[in-house]
Amino acid sequence: MQTVLVIGSGGREYELARQMSLSAAVGSVIVAPGNAGTALLSKTVNAPIGPIEIEAQIALVKERSVDTVIIGPDASVAAGVGDALRAEGVAVFGPNLQPGKLESSKAFAADFMKRHNVPQPEFWTAGNLEEALEIIADKSPKSYVLKADGLAAGKGVVLPRSKQEAVQTLELMFSSDAYDGAGMTGVVIQERLSGPEVSAFAVSDGKDIFMLPFAQDHKRLQDGDQGPNTGGMGSYCPVPGTIVDSEQTAKIHDIAKKTIAAIASDGTPYQGVLYIGLMLAKQRGGDPVVIEYNARFGDPETQVLLTSMQQSGVDVADLLTSAANDDISHLQVPTSVKASLTVAIAAIGYPNSPRKGDVIHGLGKKYKNVVVQHAGTAKKDSDIVTAGGRVLYVTGFGDTVAEAAQHAYAAIGKDGIHFADMQYRTDIGYQAI
Ligand code: AMP
Ligand code: GLY
Repeated sequence: MQTVLVIGSGGREYELARQMSLSAAVGSVIVAPGNAGTALLSKTVNAPIGPIEIEAQIALVKERSVDTVIIGPDASVAAGVGDALRAEGVAVFGPNLQPGKLESSKAFAADFMKRHNVPQPEFWTAGNLEEALEIIADKSPKSYVLKADGLAAGKGVVLPRSKQEAVQTLELMFSSDAYDGAGMTGVVIQERLSGPEVSAFAVSDGKDIFMLPFAQDHKRLQDGDQGPNTGGMGSYCPVPGTIVDSEQTAKIHDIAKKTIAAIASDGTPYQGVLYIGLMLAKQRGGDPVVIEYNARFGDPETQVLLTSMQQSGVDVADLLTSAANDDISHLQVPTSVKASLTVAIAAIGYPNSPRKGDVIHGLGKKYKNVVVQHAGTAKKDSDIVTAGGRVLYVTGFGDTVAEAAQHAYAAIGKDGIHFADMQYRTDIGYQAI
């Protein structure tokens, strides 16, 4: 029986831990640091260790004889948690620092795609403000996007509406920590494309890949894609053929295979999940173009992807631990995939300053075809209370996206899961339904 350590504390990590706890091959699960919900999963305990506390993680792994570590957050990848734990002889799901740069440096990713002929928008890199201003001097501001080079907690991409906004953004990116300092090392200026966006996820053991279904995200706070950007208010999978046809699907799978092979040929094989953000670009006749790589699972995409895989008969714990242990060749992609759809329930004030401490009701009830994943929750006396912006995810599943949506929404509200002044979108999955 394996002991598995999951690093992270959000809804993504709740779902990773839940899948591990479901497996007969897993004897115990530790989540570091976890949340109030992960502590309630069977066979699971939390450990109060942060995502980049590498020394404490190493000590924990030794003390508890951990067999496999599953890394959730991008910050852990970028801090070198994968390298450090592999050096201790532990199997790790999550890439090393070097291939992790595909996410943590936009300039590295652009150069990688150029060297390996992966379709991407046209791009220019600038190491300082003067260079950047020169690059945009003769361009229309609506023809490009500005990307701060480093990790910027999802805030590092700006689509300027005017020349003035572009110049101001560049000044901020290079000079301050307005973008978490992500632009101070450089900025990538990218051709602006348009078309539907699809997220692809390839689980890899370093050689083979296992393609998960495609998913779509909902970044804006309010219905109709209005309001401020958030970490993600919902997601669903699989994406129907009316949005991604079989030819585009084959091209995306080729991009995933090519990327994993190219990373290995660059020297450090990729073990973990590669998240590929794509645009089916009108400017390329609908062909998929990579607009970003992430070196980890998406949040909240994980909540739907793993629920769907489990409902489609895949042993998710086996998939992830096998990827960490160098061999996924025995795992089969299911021929027919169940749909899942998740609705993020956020606290009032999210995304700026979420209120904490509201009692969450309805968690004890059973809901048909629903999994509830905790994210920003805490235990207070005998209650579970809100403790973050995105508090929990209500994930429905079924044969179709519409059915999954019905189940998810049936579990939310006065007679189901609720708390004071909660915010959620009522149109998740509109693209597919
Ligand atoms: P990223 O963090 O790179 O995925 O960018 C965040 C969002 O910005 C994407 O989901 C797109 O909606 C948008 N975006 C990024 N790159 C481009 C591009 N080259 N053209 C148009 N939109 C883009
Ligand atoms: N849902 C977007 C992300 O995880 O980056």
